Amino acid sequence: MKKLLSFVSACILLLSTAPAFAAGGGVPLLHVKTNLDDKAALQEGAKIFVNYCLSCHSAEYMRFSRLGKDLDLTDEQLRENLMFTTDKVGSPMKIAMDKGDAARWFGVAPPDLSVIARARGTDWLYTYFMGFYKDESRPWGVNNLVFKDVGMPHVMADLQGGLQEAVYKTETDANGHEHQVLEKLVLPQGDMSDAEYKKLQNDYQRNMTNLVSFLEYLGEPAKLQRYSLGAKVLVFLFILLLISYLLKKEYWRDVK
Ligand code: HEC
Repeated sequence: MKKLLSFVSACILLLSTAPAFAAGGGVPLLHVKTNLDDKAALQEGAKIFVNYCLSCHSAEYMRFSRLGKDLDLTDEQLRENLMFTTDKVGSPMKIAMDKGDAARWFGVAPPDLSVIARARGTDWLYTYFMGFYKDESRPWGVNNLVFKDVGMPHVMADLQGGLQEAVYKTETDANGHEHQVLEKLVLPQGDMSDAEYKKLQNDYQRNMTNLVSFLEYLGEPAKLQRYSLGAKVLVFLFILLLISYLLKKEYWRDVK
């Protein structure tokens, strides 16, 4: 029995740790704190998505009309700010590009991003967006910390204020061999003042947080409803508690 128990607990331990290793690929992931309650942040994320991603990636499980409803946008606002590929609010978020062309241009077709947040996790996505760096040996001149030899160009480089550069350090292994290992990524400061440089980085972090929040919402739009329903249920339970308490007091008054 004891053996069986320890076997079962070992299995549980294995199952609970395995996905973390698989997703990380050795690089520690940055942590992102998304906030699905913040409609303004989700709207910002949606704006980045349609401006920077929708040219290559679709989100075919989402319709613009649903997006408008969930993010409190009127059809007018939708058309003006988010819809460039179609003028019908009922359309799914498709791309104009042909899938075959895309595969030919990029070597791989850019995947649909509807459920990417569920597949990769929000921390992975955030690290991926923070993890592009200059690598002249690659076709697009960039590589990525968590996606080695990535086939996607760094389309947010202008948002980030340039291309980060990898800084390497020399490590000696147990056999005395020296290796170059990546230590950190640094965005060249150029002639920016310290304040400008800091602001640029803060803005990029906020933008990427909003983008990841949007992708999380995209992966499970029902989450928004669930959150607001959850709050209503709690209020309801609280009122019920109050009523039951008063009722109990009323009943017990005569008994005592
Ligand atoms: C110019 C086309 C292009 C644009 C624009 C683009 N991507 Fe990509 N993206 C690609 C390609 C191609 C791949 C596949 C890379 C590979 O498999 O090597 C990819 C891969 C990805 C992946 C990894 C998917 C996986 O396999 O897990 C994510 C996440 C992603 N893109 C998000 C975005 C987001 C978010 C934006 C907008 C900010 C964006 N992409 C803009 C072409 C693009």
